[in-house]
Amino acid sequence: MKAAIYTMYGSPSVLQMAQVPVPTLEGDYANRVLVKVHYASINPIDYIYRSGFFAIRASEGLLKPNPDAQIMGADVAGEVIEIGSSVTRFQVGDVVFGSCRGSHAEIVRSRESALAHMPKNASFKEMAALPLAAQTALQALRDVAKIQKGQRVLINGASGGIGHCAVQLAKYFGAHVTAVCSTSNLEWVKALGADEVLDYSQADFTKQGKQYDIIYDTVGKRSYWSCKKALTKTGMFVGENPFKARFQLLQMVWALLTKDKQFGTHLTSHNAKDLELIRDLVEAGRLKPHIEKVYPLEQIAEAHRHGESGHTKGKIVIEVIPS
Ligand SMILES: NC(=O)c1ccc[n+]([C@@H]2O[C@H](COP(=O)([O-])OP(=O)(O)OC[C@H]3O[C@@H](n4cnc5c(N)ncnc54)[C@H](OP(=O)(O)O)[C@@H]3O)[C@@H](O)[C@H]2O)c1
Repeated sequence: MKAAIYTMYGSPSVLQMAQVPVPTLEGDYANRVLVKVHYASINPIDYIYRSGFFAIRASEGLLKPNPDAQIMGADVAGEVIEIGSSVTRFQVGDVVFGSCRGSHAEIVRSRESALAHMPKNASFKEMAALPLAAQTALQALRDVAKIQKGQRVLINGASGGIGHCAVQLAKYFGAHVTAVCSTSNLEWVKALGADEVLDYSQADFTKQGKQYDIIYDTVGKRSYWSCKKALTKTGMFVGENPFKARFQLLQMVWALLTKDKQFGTHLTSHNAKDLELIRDLVEAGRLKPHIEKVYPLEQIAEAHRHGESGHTKGKIVIEVIPS
């Protein structure tokens, strides 16, 4: 099958198209399914793997990516073409979306527990945009920050993959949402449902004299310590990307050592329950992905360059087998 692979760490130019063996369910894969990939998406984790960031080398390959780790892609939307012997939720022919490893290829093997059936009112293209970004936003707000109705929530990076889901989800949970983004995205983010918008190029939200119950820095651009004065006494800062964001790793270690309950971070869990909730929210019109651009799989390096510029509006989607 056709896949986008990388056999060495480096810039987007290390990405290349190749013919690779089709994954199988032989061996220890009774709880997996094979999905024919119609659409996938890209996420910052792809650039982290591709660039060979030190923290991933122990699992991915010390000097170069291991042969079984050469296909990226964490989101998938497509059609089930084979099921493992213990799979009960899916049948061949079902249309699904969810999380996986290696969806930048025509066929991907995914856990049954990391997939959900497609909603009735959205396309493969749209649902490929959501799994990682929406699960991350959902878990950060609901599980880490324990969001409550009526709380004042600030979303930094509100126009990004996670951010635009976080704005919509925080509204779903009944919060008053202040969304922070750049000038050109203000109107769009307001239309997503934000009650207030702030332009980070014009104002620093920590210096407006306002306090928030939750500050969710979806893009790892702000330090916890700089945001502390903008938190209520019981407020919480949640930061993504503890490994790459400025000081966040240090702050996480410090917060753990000092048992500081106002700092939170997390690793996204891929699970069917949350994917089903995301599907239901899409069906109910409460969550809608925004796709800035679709690239064919053959242009994966271009897609990485675009995403890595750090200013994607919503998501970048990869067309693998057009449906
Ligand atoms: N915890 C986990 O397990 C987990 C899971 C997934 C992702 N992550 C991490 O979450 C982070 C965000 O992921 P993502 O997919 O949302 O990224 P993304 O879509 O690439 O984020 C792009 C957005 O960042 C905004 N931005 C850039 N500079 C900014 C600034 N100074 N202030 C505020 N916003 C700014 C841009 O808005 P403008 O164009 O308006 O500037 C753009 O909309 C990544 O670091 C990723 O590694 C963590």
